[in-house]
Amino acid sequence: MTPPVSPAPIIRKLDDLRALTKTWKAKGETIGIVPTMGALHDGHLSLARMARAATDRVIVTIFINPKQFNNPDDLKNYPRTEHEDARKLASIGVDAIYVPDGAQMYPDGFSTTVSLDALTDVLCGAHRLGHFDGVATVVAKLLLQTSADQAFFGEKDYQQLLIVRRMAVDLDICATIVGCPTVREIDGLALSSRNLLLSDRARVKAPALSEVMQQITKGLAAGETMKTLTPAALTQLDNAGFGDVDYLELRAAADLSLLESPTEPARLFAAVWLAGVRLIDNIAI
Ligand code: PAF
Repeated sequence: MTPPVSPAPIIRKLDDLRALTKTWKAKGETIGIVPTMGALHDGHLSLARMARAATDRVIVTIFINPKQFNNPDDLKNYPRTEHEDARKLASIGVDAIYVPDGAQMYPDGFSTTVSLDALTDVLCGAHRLGHFDGVATVVAKLLLQTSADQAFFGEKDYQQLLIVRRMAVDLDICATIVGCPTVREIDGLALSSRNLLLSDRARVKAPALSEVMQQITKGLAAGETMKTLTPAALTQLDNAGFGDVDYLELRAAADLSLLESPTEPARLFAAVWLAGVRLIDNIAI
């Protein structure tokens, strides 16, 4: 049966957002936010449900943040589905959808960048220069704009999760950053807004990424190292139709230092290109 629909108000102006959150705070209500760039999928909806369960009021933010795109075409092609996003969120019953525009977020004269010294120069940070400065800057602003008590992020972007957590601690922002498990398609492909950009043919090939990663996991569990496992994994990805591999690395879950084998809690990280679309994934070891 279709769940009951209760559309949330779409708020575009910071003043209106502040007026609303002020009334909630005055009643002692807690606020949970789910920062997104739209093109919402079940992964985002699971974050919204977690926020719904944990806090009195839930705001989903939708802002395609130009500062975190290092490639103008990537920004131009990023899927934009606001109407559909609002419809999906109605079934969860969030309290507000905050959709600021560029001028609202970065008014004339805007000149502050939040930049971290640690965690940002490896993995996606090494391949997308300036990306995490853009992420840290916009998330700091969203946490402050919404007066969030808790903010929910997917572990699919694990590096982003660690960076946001560090940034919030360093800047004394009083929001708890909550990491939530990656949601996958039935064939193992991690949900991502970018999956919408995959052609039908590429979509069929895409699950090979998580299969290869699972095989590496098994090899590591059997005592092999990344050095011995990586060549075969790269060949398998190539045979499966993938293009460039930006990285396929085992790193410490706490600080992203590079590992050969899981001598401490670790995650296997991958970023690979498939028919012009960059897919990322990571799994706990
Ligand atoms: O993960 C994303 O969608 C974005 O990086 C975020 C956290 C919404 C910041 O723009």
